[in-house]
Amino acid sequence: MIFYFSGTGNSTFVAEHLAKAYDHEAIRVDEWLHTGRINFNIDDQDRIGFVFPVYFYGLPHIVEQFLLELSITFEKKPYVYYIATCGGQQGQSIKKANAILQKKGLGIDAAFDLLMPDNYTRMYDVNDEQKIMQINQHAIIELKEIMHKIEQKEVGHFAKTGFPRILSAPVTLFGQTFLTKTKGFHVLDSCIHCALCERKCPVHAIELIDGKPVWQKKKCEMCLRCLHHCPKFAIQYKNQTQENGQYHHPVI
Ligand SMILES: Cc1cc2nc3c(=O)[nH]c(=O)nc-3n(C[C@H](O)[C@H](O)[C@H](O)COP(=O)(O)O)c2cc1C
Ligand code: SF4
Ligand code: SF4
Repeated sequence: MIFYFSGTGNSTFVAEHLAKAYDHEAIRVDEWLHTGRINFNIDDQDRIGFVFPVYFYGLPHIVEQFLLELSITFEKKPYVYYIATCGGQQGQSIKKANAILQKKGLGIDAAFDLLMPDNYTRMYDVNDEQKIMQINQHAIIELKEIMHKIEQKEVGHFAKTGFPRILSAPVTLFGQTFLTKTKGFHVLDSCIHCALCERKCPVHAIELIDGKPVWQKKKCEMCLRCLHHCPKFAIQYKNQTQENGQYHHPVI
């Protein structure tokens, strides 16, 4: 069983790749909001995985909520691996997840960070297709090495990045408090009223009113799925995103 969350497909790609290779079920954590499915029995499994993106050196809010609510029953503790997909710095996201999972008797045995294109285009530019392709190709090579360790059930903290809590925690707090506000979103006239953004938002923050997306929640995950998937690139955040392009993982 592999639990994952993804805004723009990086983590989906990784989770689905692992699920296919290991013939495991991949479960998107935001489905829990629709299905209520939060109890899992894994008696028949000797290995479970978690694949989540890093947000503000920490966990996406929905991931933290899911992990806190998650109830997993098992006869024997499975081997637990965790992959943090990130643009360059996982901060304390692995430690945060481990602290929650340990309380459920599911402490992480092997932790990895995996560098992938940074979809936070409020700060980063994704226009250079060549560079994006290279990062994704390198991620596939790294993923193979990660899978080798998982198959050997190697134990360790294999993440190459990480900040001490004193540096990460203020960024996470600031990000989750001030940088997840939806009032910064606006929609350009190029919108073709297709409602894709409404359908794709993992937390139902968007509703089409008179054919245009309107944010119904004051805060959201800030996963940028709506912005990156809009066929007309009509969703923007303040004046921060228009020059920086759109991204989603090429195979998703
Ligand atoms: C709101 C937000 C915050 C982010 N914060 C970080 C961060 O602190 N460190 C980092 O390396 N990448 C950060 N990123 C980049 C993502 O972690 C990275 O692109 C990830 O692979 C996206 O995965 P996904 O495509 O599955 O959503 C952030 C992205 C978003 C949308
Ligand atoms: S996805 Fe883009 S084009 Fe479609 S309704 Fe939303 S903003 Fe408009
Ligand atoms: S409104 Fe956009 S950025 Fe916010 S959670 Fe929904 S899809 Fe993600």
